[in-house]
Amino acid sequence: MKTVFEPFRIKSVEPIRLTTAAERRQLIREAGFNPFRLHAEDVQIDLLTDSGTGAMSSEQWAAVMRGDESYAGARSFFRFEEAVRSIFGHKHVIPTHQGRAAEKLLCSTCLQADSIVPGNTHFDTTRANIEHTGARALDLPIPEARKVRSEHPFKGNIDLEALEECLKHHPGRVPFVLVTVTNNSGGGQPVSMANLKGARALCDKYHVPLLLDAARFAENAWFIREREAGYEGHPPEEIARELFSLSDGAMMSMKKDAFGNMGGVLTLNDGELASQVRNLLILTEGFPTYGGLSGRDLDALAVGLREILDPDYLQYRIRSTAYVGWHLEAAGVPLLTPFGGHAVYLDGRAFCDHLSNEQFPGWSLSVALYCHAGVRACEIGNVMFGHPEAEKEEDRWPVMDLVRLAIPRRVYTQSHMDYVIEAITELYEMRHEIRGLKFVDRPAVLPHFTATFAEV
Ligand code: F0G
Repeated sequence: MKTVFEPFRIKSVEPIRLTTAAERRQLIREAGFNPFRLHAEDVQIDLLTDSGTGAMSSEQWAAVMRGDESYAGARSFFRFEEAVRSIFGHKHVIPTHQGRAAEKLLCSTCLQADSIVPGNTHFDTTRANIEHTGARALDLPIPEARKVRSEHPFKGNIDLEALEECLKHHPGRVPFVLVTVTNNSGGGQPVSMANLKGARALCDKYHVPLLLDAARFAENAWFIREREAGYEGHPPEEIARELFSLSDGAMMSMKKDAFGNMGGVLTLNDGELASQVRNLLILTEGFPTYGGLSGRDLDALAVGLREILDPDYLQYRIRSTAYVGWHLEAAGVPLLTPFGGHAVYLDGRAFCDHLSNEQFPGWSLSVALYCHAGVRACEIGNVMFGHPEAEKEEDRWPVMDLVRLAIPRRVYTQSHMDYVIEAITELYEMRHEIRGLKFVDRPAVLPHFTATFAEV
């Protein structure tokens, strides 16, 4: 059979409030034309993020009831530790309340003002946490990653030549290299095993630890199985173990590929570093066996980590994301290719080719999509990464101005996606009516979360 259906049945449902276009135009105006400022109730299909928005399974809910809420040494922690260690393999497992808490702990512990952290493309919170210490976050994606349209199967790869240059020219200044799997800011693109092996070899040569940002490690493992020679048909769990075995530690937002609504983890082999991190963890997150999470969260995450590597789930996950991409592509909508694992990305500049960079084509498109159909998406482009104040034109705008349609895990069915496809196709036909925007208020850090805009 060609049809890949959702490999689950629905046991509990949450109603969606339907709204009219007129209502939505009023609501987005009140929200300062920022979809982050909308009330979730006013959104019909929420593709803002795949983070923490997944549906837990009945086994996860059962695990919630097993949660041990003891302050220290809870059973839940040991089940969590075992689940993480069985895949990641690192010696020390440190729970945190979400991914950025792990980033903050690691960056505060091992970065200095003259440090450099190279990576394929750092996620925005990772970059912000690195830069908060005064250090430099250096993105070294392969050149192919800068092209919106490409057939490269592993556009998430790190540029190994550029990485070697960096390691060679800055001895003692690189506390670790960070590879994000899959590369979210670069379009949800996977990193190949061969590329990670190359990064490992360089890290060995220059005696620098290699860490993974593993938020979407299972989706990356599936792409390796589908696209990399030598891995066809291999169990995703085996591929994931091999990925982690090439690293010295990992940070993970467990709100993605652990089916968690909240949670994160930092794993390390270095015992000295782990104890420094734990000392800070006690100050900011909590005791080392819960790290800001409830026992019930730890138990749900332990089950989620096992479920995410189910090949039937991963096949459905990657195919159902591609389904959206195929249909939009057939309608001529400009997209980033190949399609990502957790999201399809619209090319904001090509979609709104009547708007200049200063008018934020991607952001304006996300606002128009909300008004047209009540679909909320997230710009990853000029607003998120731009520096409108920069002197040189080339420093002002990021290479791509994308709108991410991030698909929550196990939440929406194919007809929800058919609605999204229809909405975007219609909007594309009337794209020249989309109005540009300008800042009213632009916060200095992570502006997209709270900025407000006006129509130009
Ligand atoms: N790393 C990556 C690759 C991420 O995508 C995220 C979050 C984080 C780290 C931070 O984790 O949110 O648990 O603190 N990404 C979300 C997104 C917010 O929408 O892509 P967190």
